Amino acid sequence: MPHRQILVTAALPYANGPIHIGHLVEYIQTDIWVRFQKLRGHRCVFICADDTHGTAIMIRARQEGRSEEELIAETQIAHERDFASFAIEFDNYGSTNSPENEKLCGEIWQSIRAAELVKEKDIEQLFDVQEGTFLADRFVRGTCPKCKRPDQPGDNCECGQTYAPAELIDPVSTLSGTTPELRAAKHLFIELEQLHGFLDEWTQTDDHLQPEVVNYLKGHFLCDELRDWDISRPAPYFGFEISDSPGNYWYVWFDAPIGYMASTQQWCDKHGKSFNDWWRNDSTEIHHFIGKDITYFHTLFWPGMLKSAGFNLPTKVHIHGFLTVDAEKMSKSKGTFIKAETYLKHLNPTYLRYYYASKLGARLDDLDLNFEEFAAKIDSDLVGKVVNLASRSAKFVADTGLSAEYPDDGGLFEQGAKAGEEVAAAYEQCDYNRAMRLIVELADRANPYVENAQPWNLRKDPEKSQELQDVCTVALNLFRQIIVYLSPVLPRLAKQTTELLGKPIESWDESQMPLVGTPVAKFKRMLDRVNTKSIQAMIEESKDEAAADGPSVADEAAAKYNDDDEALKAEPLAEQCTIDDFIKADLRVARVLTAEDVPEARKLLKLTLGLGGDERRTVFAGIKAAYKPEDLIGRLVVCCANLAPRKMKFGTSEGMILASGPGGEDVFMLRVDEGGVPGQRVH
Ligand code: 2FM
Ligand code: ZN
Repeated sequence: MPHRQILVTAALPYANGPIHIGHLVEYIQTDIWVRFQKLRGHRCVFICADDTHGTAIMIRARQEGRSEEELIAETQIAHERDFASFAIEFDNYGSTNSPENEKLCGEIWQSIRAAELVKEKDIEQLFDVQEGTFLADRFVRGTCPKCKRPDQPGDNCECGQTYAPAELIDPVSTLSGTTPELRAAKHLFIELEQLHGFLDEWTQTDDHLQPEVVNYLKGHFLCDELRDWDISRPAPYFGFEISDSPGNYWYVWFDAPIGYMASTQQWCDKHGKSFNDWWRNDSTEIHHFIGKDITYFHTLFWPGMLKSAGFNLPTKVHIHGFLTVDAEKMSKSKGTFIKAETYLKHLNPTYLRYYYASKLGARLDDLDLNFEEFAAKIDSDLVGKVVNLASRSAKFVADTGLSAEYPDDGGLFEQGAKAGEEVAAAYEQCDYNRAMRLIVELADRANPYVENAQPWNLRKDPEKSQELQDVCTVALNLFRQIIVYLSPVLPRLAKQTTELLGKPIESWDESQMPLVGTPVAKFKRMLDRVNTKSIQAMIEESKDEAAADGPSVADEAAAKYNDDDEALKAEPLAEQCTIDDFIKADLRVARVLTAEDVPEARKLLKLTLGLGGDERRTVFAGIKAAYKPEDLIGRLVVCCANLAPRKMKFGTSEGMILASGPGGEDVFMLRVDEGGVPGQRVH
């Protein structure tokens, strides 16, 4: 196979918080893919950096009474240490606050200007006079303009109302406690609509994106005019000042992806390579790995920027889902918001790499971490089936080494060698779950061989010493073949295997030829079973940390949403309505009494909702891909109870359940907090 030249990136983590097990899904996923490509002999470079700019970091540095540079330098050390501990090996780890990045931002900006994509508009925003800064939505609180509840956040109220911060009654800046004033400032916008034709084509062709992403973009963004993208922020802002617009800074999401290039530039400079060979060369593949929350930045803005500036476009953007723990969002109070550093005090990083690999597929599904399953998988697959092959045979050949010729093993090694291409295809498609299943199947075939041959009995009979050596030669070769396939996931186990059997695992082809006549080192324990007490201790420690940190909802929100809520921008707010308009919709709490599949319909479930007393509604809801009927029965939902009945092919729908999300698997029904009862009006 000809060698490919592949540049791989993982999303740049924000420099205002520690790495946690949610982040690790992506970095482990990407590291596995890079290791796999390198093992296959391709020229592959893994690039990352800290994402350092924006209001959140500026405010935090201010609150801690130090410079942003000091804060981001300290965070970067911690990030790099955590990544290394999980064997996540970047070829270059940079920072978006680097001279290389500033220079590239300037160049790309000039190209975008030259393409006449930039326009100016005045934007009104609340300004904190005491702190001397414009306020992103989350730094404002005040009284809800609709229901008059006090102390509500800057963009939405508990009553469900969304608004602009300037609409709040008695707004207060959370930074200084003072009343902010409305000020206008100039912002620079990129007219993305001019690139609509290009983006239509790029997103919909050549497998740049997973099929569900293609549909999502088509249904949510590309079906309409693309909105102008506000890419500047007025001073003060921690970032790069725009060269031809003094007092204005590039919004963090402009310079962050350019950080991929800047970090590549650093790698090129360190290794005497040409930058253009990686970013201006049609034969280089560029693969970005990201989470689904930042899809539109990487699939619309970023290709648009690259296109305008004449750089390589991404070959593929690989998008993964979120991590849940026991089917819920990570929670600080439940101790499931686990920092990488805390995990490492209690559990072996190899466990997490394997567990995530065994759960990751090529789609955008969320990945659920269930600690019982975690322990069971490690104990059964890795310790019980894989490492066991070596631990039950290596000690019997420590003196003799492997047999001079590979013995008859009934075709096991050959079968394993043949399976290699299927395993490789699964890795290539990021279907690690399938790759792990195929590999464990090989272990399932190898173990009965050892059990039948019983080396522990053969060793008691001096006349069977050749047979003993042969059996162990087979067992150790089957073990090593499995480890070659697992080595992108478990580099430390691969290293231990190299120490045991002498020959480094540096190429996938090592799985195709057995080792013979080589020495075997003294066997050292490779992997322990999971100690479930350690899991509990880790959860308890995470709870204690959360309690000591105090309420950090703002930090988490800042980390997630950075400057302002782009999701809100992406789906513009509807025209203003009056309270009279709003109450026309009679929204009620309802209980799901029955739920059944409509087999003839692709998306629909049929539900009976109880609205209190004898009041019932039959509703057909397009939630089949997101919910199982049996999980819905008994739960409270919110429904619109006075919607005109609608005749459908399968019956009449007498209402509508309130849910958010683009559709398909991403449908999120509203929940009713404890205390709500069927029939209550929602307002
Ligand atoms: O969502 C995030 O965590 C961002 N810091 C990712 C940036 S990726 C790239 F564009 F830089
Ligand atoms: Zn309100």
